[in-house]
Amino acid sequence: MKDKIQIFDTTLRDGEQVPGCQLSTEEKVIIARELEELGVDVIEAGFPISSPGDFLSVVEISKAVKNVTVCGLTRAKKEDIDVAAEALHHAKRGRIHTGIGASDVHIKHKFRSNREQVLEQGVWAVEYAKSKGYEVEFYAEDAGRADLEFLAKLTQAVIAAGADVVNIPDTTGYCLPHLYGKRIQYLFENVKNIDKAVISVHCHNDLGLATANTMAGLLNGARQAEVTMNGIGERAGNTSLEEVAMIIKTHGDIGLTTNIKSERIYGLSQLVSSMMRMPVQANKAIVGKNAFAHSSGIHQDGFLKHSENYEIINPADVGVGSSSIVLTARSGRAALKHRVELLGYHFEGEELNSLYENFLLVADEKKMVNDADLKILITSLPVLINK
Ligand code: KIV
Ligand code: ZN
Repeated sequence: MKDKIQIFDTTLRDGEQVPGCQLSTEEKVIIARELEELGVDVIEAGFPISSPGDFLSVVEISKAVKNVTVCGLTRAKKEDIDVAAEALHHAKRGRIHTGIGASDVHIKHKFRSNREQVLEQGVWAVEYAKSKGYEVEFYAEDAGRADLEFLAKLTQAVIAAGADVVNIPDTTGYCLPHLYGKRIQYLFENVKNIDKAVISVHCHNDLGLATANTMAGLLNGARQAEVTMNGIGERAGNTSLEEVAMIIKTHGDIGLTTNIKSERIYGLSQLVSSMMRMPVQANKAIVGKNAFAHSSGIHQDGFLKHSENYEIINPADVGVGSSSIVLTARSGRAALKHRVELLGYHFEGEELNSLYENFLLVADEKKMVNDADLKILITSLPVLINK
């Protein structure tokens, strides 16, 4: 029996913090409904006290979705928690996500405080949020750089205060995967009441390690992953939902599973990208334009013989129509033959050689040869051969 990983999607909160990616409430509701269809367990819908727009979005998303927990972010402050509680009023299942900086850098230079006071305020915030009748998740901001003994003490104290989930964010994307994994392991070994809460991982991508760190956390006992569609988020972004979901699906032997309906991934990735006016990089894992495109001759030949030679994911599993064979000057005869056959032509032997030679001339000029170019080549081939 596999362990279920809760997928906590923060596209509409951490993801929407990206400059230029702001969405209207209507757009957020559309994305929230799609996230519900995708099968996420929690939608972080906004930071209600931050603006009237964010407040309204949390209200409208709470009304619009039914099979998913709706979460609102707060600082460890009374007014934040009051406003979040109000915004979540219509949620079938609501969660207040409250917290405070846990690293000495944050404690000293952000709060100008000390560990004891931070712990006290964290505990107070959890108790106060809990009194509102919602699930409570506590975040220990910058946990990736926090003193481990203090992090364990804080985690134990907020669980004792009633936190249902404790989030251990690598806020600055600083950690290395094996060390982040060890942090989570340390908490499991040193926090006495850890079995009373779910441990959550929330990783940023400043060093390109967000997904690796998230997986390290999950492999060491965390059971919730905080992610965004396409990995969007502050600075270099957050852990991407599609990567975590497909790692867990592809590596069935690690004993984990999620509720994600993977065939819906690509459609939602495109929707988020177009609504946020944030193009997906071509080589982005799972959802990039080139994620299932084969362009070199050796790869194309191997792929055409047996797709598993070069693909570990069936594109249909993530909602991508099919793999593509991109024709460039690096392509070989096998790929060219395959593509012209898709256009209804058949070439063998000398004819194929001639077509290929002429194709290379076009490819050197055009970089990528499309179907229209191929048709021109095919129809003019007798003329070219007789030259
Ligand atoms: O990165 C972070 O620490 C956060 C918290 C507010 C959860 O986004
Ligand atoms: Zn974050």
